[in-house]
Amino acid sequence: RRLVVLVSGSGTNLQALLDEIAATGTEAYGAEVVAVGADREGIEGLARAERAGLPTFVCRVKDHATREEWDAALAGAVAAHEPDLVVSAGFMKIVGKEFLARFGGRFVNTHPALLPSFPGAHGVRDALAYGAKVTGCTVHFVDDGVDTGPIIAQGVVEVRDEDDESALHERIKEVERRLLVEVVGLLARNGYRIEGRKVVIQ
Ligand code: GRF
Repeated sequence: RRLVVLVSGSGTNLQALLDEIAATGTEAYGAEVVAVGADREGIEGLARAERAGLPTFVCRVKDHATREEWDAALAGAVAAHEPDLVVSAGFMKIVGKEFLARFGGRFVNTHPALLPSFPGAHGVRDALAYGAKVTGCTVHFVDDGVDTGPIIAQGVVEVRDEDDESALHERIKEVERRLLVEVVGLLARNGYRIEGRKVVIQ
């Protein structure tokens, strides 16, 4: 299976995928990363891809007259690598109709909270501010909402009294990286069906 991974930041989730595939081998894992895309230049996630010798592309919103044109350009840049599965690993943009028309049902995202709690760009901060005792991470299929698609897997992380956002986020990411590697491998090696809000992995 061919994976295209989309990043916007440090790319440690991407790195976890690359390390797992290197360790277990493409055949055994069931997938290989064929390209990495981003919405901005100069991020560590792109540097990680380049160090791995992977093709990269950057699709910046400000380079396009409208959001729809950006969305179509992103879809085209991803499609050029003929992915079987697209993985958003810390990609911080909401994709639109064109992207979902082409990749809906094979586009997964990882979110650092237990959806439906704390969706959006500040899930870690929001859980902390709310006083949640446990939070975690969610790997889900992307639909036309924000962090609302069918849930594939979740991992629970305790919130500690002394936590600040970054300490909590780092603890979440330790669980998140393992969850994403496990889920992507499962989807790649097995067929799966999405039935309403249920994901059935064969
Ligand atoms: C991850 O926790 C992801 O869920 C969130 O941003 C973080 C990205 O981390 N959206 P990285 O870029 O994979 O290190």
